[in-house]
Amino acid sequence: MKSIQISSLAEYKELYQKSVDDPQGFWEEVASHFTWRQKWSHVLKSDFITPDVRWFEGGKFNITENCLDRHIEKNGDTPAILWEGNNPETPSVVLTYKQLLSEVNKCANALKSLGIKKGDRICFYMPMIPQVAVAILACARIGAIHSVVFAGFSANALADRIKDSECKLVICSDYNRRGNKNIPVKEVVDEAIAMGCDSVEKVLVYNATGQSVNWNNDKDIWWENIVPQQNDVCEPEIMDAEDVLFILYTSGSTGKPKGVVHTCGGYMVYTCYTFLNVFQYKPGDVYWCTADVGWITGHSYIIYGPLLSGATSLMFEGVPTYPDSGRFWQVCEKHKVNQFYTAPTAIRALMASGYDEPDKYDLSSLKVIGSVGEPINEEAWNWYYEKIGHKNCPIVDTWWQTETGGILISPLPGITDMKPCFASYPLPGVQPCLVDTNGVELEGNNVEGLLCMKFPWPSILRTTYGDHERCRTTYFSTFNNKYFTGDGARRDEDGRYRIIGRVDDVINVSGHRIGTAEVEDAINQHEHVIESAVVGFPHNIKGQGIYAYVITNGAIGEENAFRKQVLDVVTKEIGPIAKPDAIQIVTQLPKTRSGKIMRRILRKIAEGEFDNFGDTSTLLNPECVEDLKNGALTLN
Ligand code: WT7
Repeated sequence: MKSIQISSLAEYKELYQKSVDDPQGFWEEVASHFTWRQKWSHVLKSDFITPDVRWFEGGKFNITENCLDRHIEKNGDTPAILWEGNNPETPSVVLTYKQLLSEVNKCANALKSLGIKKGDRICFYMPMIPQVAVAILACARIGAIHSVVFAGFSANALADRIKDSECKLVICSDYNRRGNKNIPVKEVVDEAIAMGCDSVEKVLVYNATGQSVNWNNDKDIWWENIVPQQNDVCEPEIMDAEDVLFILYTSGSTGKPKGVVHTCGGYMVYTCYTFLNVFQYKPGDVYWCTADVGWITGHSYIIYGPLLSGATSLMFEGVPTYPDSGRFWQVCEKHKVNQFYTAPTAIRALMASGYDEPDKYDLSSLKVIGSVGEPINEEAWNWYYEKIGHKNCPIVDTWWQTETGGILISPLPGITDMKPCFASYPLPGVQPCLVDTNGVELEGNNVEGLLCMKFPWPSILRTTYGDHERCRTTYFSTFNNKYFTGDGARRDEDGRYRIIGRVDDVINVSGHRIGTAEVEDAINQHEHVIESAVVGFPHNIKGQGIYAYVITNGAIGEENAFRKQVLDVVTKEIGPIAKPDAIQIVTQLPKTRSGKIMRRILRKIAEGEFDNFGDTSTLLNPECVEDLKNGALTLN
């Protein structure tokens, strides 16, 4: 391998085979393309998949030196971040690699002056502005651990996450401009801290919009009062490959969100390797990922993957529909974007709001277009292929998860073939398999089962923060010696994977994972709710919507007013993304003799399917099914 970029089908096949026959040799070669201060003692310390895996242990380096310093000599004047504001009139901002390094160093020195040290946790609650990238990299530069919380989460959700990882510092902005909304950010942080976040010593506030905010002189510090005046040299903290880089909370089928932990070395190697291969980025290209930095896609494919590769990463503050539904395409035209990476939900929403709208823009710069976060349906795939890619751009349907750190299954554009709705083939280094419910591996092609991984890759999660056992039981104990993804998939006659969707109690709403238990817990906070059950249903735009069945104490008054109160409770407990699309008020839920809710029936009814409930002989209260059907809400 001369570079870590694969350039032909023959090479893909050869490397895939090598990665299976000699994984250590394969990854050692990939890792040699980075700047290490000291070489690792082992590439990988286990030959099976476990949460105790160690990659490149003993290797010493700093990820920001690889993102920034090593590009300066040759590419210091290359734009690293190209920022486009919410309002099309706002001038774009360019930060070259040289400028970004200098900003990061100043911010890193400011963090040090606040007493932040290696291993301390910093919580980020920020809009999509260049300073979020600066501060994340500054955090990594001094060896602190970032925990970015999506700025659409509520104060409650933010407080839970701050408390779980005992963050010492919160970095936020004053407000957040999104579309024609102006969202208070600092206010939510204040509210969260007042909920007993005792670990928080300081709040660093970036003045993004110039509006006034409440101020606490003991805790709050303006960014402009402490960052710009710092020295712009900051020696990076030398980290071990297995030191923690960040925590990112994600929902599961039970309990509170888990803090997925990624470490420095494996994450660096894997995000850069996948970025270069999946997007086939070439020097001079402009790459744009529309995700929010609060999700794993923003971490791996707006910040780390592109910057590790010396790429130009476009960062967008706004929303796809502001000022109109041509905004994405206007930005692609303006910046001559070469690789564009977005979510099926955005594609469907834009297709619905103006089928021919993209025709107004020059999209001829595009070379590769990508999709992530949920299964992409054929209609959306075709529209994306024709209207955006003009049948010239391969679509990379990339399958991965917060826990996987980077893309595991995806076409390689121009190298492997593509088929609508198929994430297709595993990247070299990735060993997927399908198993049946007993964990027996399904051999051969044309099979459908539960998607697992048989062998570790460098950016697999290392633990769930503060609860290693939970990590083991959630991902590594369902099936022996396998990592279980929670997804169902089918393998076609040529070995391509098609992801069907979650098989657990996780709903994928617009590409965001929401645990049914979390939504139920929120709904149950309403004083008149006795019990609730939440399921997903197919939604035309969001992929899945949220359907809630609620048992009340009968004292709710007018039903629609009550429904509105339920939505308010969910917004307060989690955030607007978790609001149910439908709330059916019921008197009973279908339960088995052991007291378990039979969700299968609830899912069918929410889908509008009133027959074929399967075996219902174990139901304690079969009579309730008729009532559930009669009260079902029609959706879509
Ligand atoms: C879940 C992971 C990966 C970053 C964004 C979401 C679903 C993800 C695809 C795809 C079908 C997909 C899966 C997965 N998913 N990509 N290309 N096709 N489904 O990260 O929040 O951790 O969610 O998203 O169900 O398990 P996440």
